[in-house]
Amino acid sequence: PRDFKIAPSILSADFARLGEEVDDVLASGADIVHFDVMDNHYVPNLTIGPMVCEALRKHGVTAPIDAHLMVKPVDRLIGDFIDAGASYITFHPEASEHVDRSLQLIRDGGCKSGLVFNPATPLSYLDYVMDKVDMILLMSVNPGFGGQSFIPGTLDKLREARARIDASGRDIRLEIDGGVKVDNIAEIARAGADTFVAGSAIFKARNADEPHRYDGVLKAL
Ligand code: DX5
Ligand code: ZN
Repeated sequence: PRDFKIAPSILSADFARLGEEVDDVLASGADIVHFDVMDNHYVPNLTIGPMVCEALRKHGVTAPIDAHLMVKPVDRLIGDFIDAGASYITFHPEASEHVDRSLQLIRDGGCKSGLVFNPATPLSYLDYVMDKVDMILLMSVNPGFGGQSFIPGTLDKLREARARIDASGRDIRLEIDGGVKVDNIAEIARAGADTFVAGSAIFKARNADEPHRYDGVLKAL
């Protein structure tokens, strides 16, 4: 069995009390904090940046922070997220002029690197950089918003990505992001994912008896 990890997307958290929300999901069993960065340019929405990542570290969050950069250009923000305490930094290859360089910048800064694939982005972007990625993130919705429905064709793409990882013999996490729910996570795991981002399915599943505990996808695998 794979080493499954759950990464709540804080896009669905209450931003007015973000530190407590992150503490609560981690105490409820989450493994990784998924941090969605949107710039109103590469994607049609605007969220949070390196200052908020740094604030979470100052608040005392020690869990890995997975910065998903939906921004263009990417390179300057890579440096800012390294300084802000990110653990993983992933970006969309279409948003970088020099994919190999951006991956190298991330690793040179001591972070784990990853490429993100939109639903219609081919996995061939991996062809010459498989040795430079620690994570492959497949989007199962078009990026920009939480609460969208899982695009079913992503399951075949997951199988293809899993085959590439297994053939490489490398230690690369396969993350899925968008529309992950209690009722589809098992099928997504069978298709090869080992790291599951979930926003609405976690933050809308507060335990009725214990107000600081979240259930939902955190208890599904
Ligand atoms: C979408 C973001 C996702 C989003 C997932 O662009 O990358 O991380 O928050 O939200 P849900 O789980 O609600 O689809
Ligand atoms: Zn994301």
